[in-house]
Amino acid sequence: MLMTQLKERKDLHLWRDRVAISARSGNKIKINDSLLINFCSSDYLGIATDSEVCQAFKEGIDIYGFGSTSSALISGYYKAHQVLEEQFADFLGRESAILFNSGYLANLGLITVLAGRNSTIFSDKLCHASLIDAIKLSAAKHWRYKHNDVAHLQSRLNQFDSANKLIVTESIFSMEGDIAPLQNIVDCVQQTNATLLVDDAHGLGVLGKNGAGICEALALTTKQVPALVSPLGKAFASFGAIVSGSKELITALMQFGRTYIYTTALPPALVHATITALQIIKNAHWRREKLAKLIQFFIKSAQQRNISIRSECAIPIQSIMIKSSAKVLALQKLLYNKGFLVSAIRPPTVPVNTSRIRISLNYEHTENQITDLLDLIAEFYESHTRLL
Ligand SMILES: Cc1ncc(COP(=O)(O)O)c(C=O)c1O
Repeated sequence: MLMTQLKERKDLHLWRDRVAISARSGNKIKINDSLLINFCSSDYLGIATDSEVCQAFKEGIDIYGFGSTSSALISGYYKAHQVLEEQFADFLGRESAILFNSGYLANLGLITVLAGRNSTIFSDKLCHASLIDAIKLSAAKHWRYKHNDVAHLQSRLNQFDSANKLIVTESIFSMEGDIAPLQNIVDCVQQTNATLLVDDAHGLGVLGKNGAGICEALALTTKQVPALVSPLGKAFASFGAIVSGSKELITALMQFGRTYIYTTALPPALVHATITALQIIKNAHWRREKLAKLIQFFIKSAQQRNISIRSECAIPIQSIMIKSSAKVLALQKLLYNKGFLVSAIRPPTVPVNTSRIRISLNYEHTENQITDLLDLIAEFYESHTRLL
């Protein structure tokens, strides 16, 4: 059975491989003996190798030692966890916040607390796997609406009324490289008694004047977005995820959130370093400005080369549709051999026949690097145009 599945995965060009990075500095990485420019990391603001954050990590080890050695409700909750939660609630302008061990676990814990067998969940069709798995685990009735289509969401809400309704979306869709029409979703949800959950994995750090994410960018309140998930593995270059909202919600997560309760808490030294990352991100205005300029440069340069990018939204994730999985792998390999690491996104991560190259921009990239990358993609594009 497994042999057949594995063979099929290979035959359909869907095989996944890992590459071991042996060293990195900023967005430059070393794999075997090759030096590459990393165009597929979510370290949008260069926090992963920031000297102050790395120093804080070492300091955290001196203060707390290595692991937390227990779950949060036993003895794994340290001062660092408490300070980070308090500072995050303040940063996001929300009543309360709680630190989960990852975005995946936050989504599982949050959705299973907010919805159960008698609830109905409406989710964007292209929501992240962690949200889909959480919805399945909740055992709620589930309806998907077309990607970013508020009229379709509205018709779903009209059609399938329920006493407990939860609407689930991401802010920035990481595989599409586009942004949810969140203000319209909020307006639509406000006419019902539904709860809105937003996963801001790729908005945190990048969107909003101070990098607090989509809610800051659109001035959305806790009343409008009662459940906000802010994963820390992307622009924060850390690990874990903050869930924020009312005191009542956060208390309920601490009492009933199984993925919060039944797992060892994050190492306090890591959390200590994340507090420093938060200070840096709040003040990283010029890094955000530089990143925004690079994004504009990328979009304009792609247009000049007739490379059709998926959404042209001003966000650090840009997706180039290739469709065929075999071709997307060929393009990835070509770029790798020329010194660029990009991701080849294929099913089941995205729907069949929508394989794509995903490029993640970082404020430390240069216009020259982007130009060289796009020239190579344009060359490939031209030689395969008829087939794409
Ligand atoms: C939208 C979204 N939600 C959740 C996650 C999961 O976060 P984590 O990697 O912290 O588990 C990711 C990242 O993979 C993501 O892109």
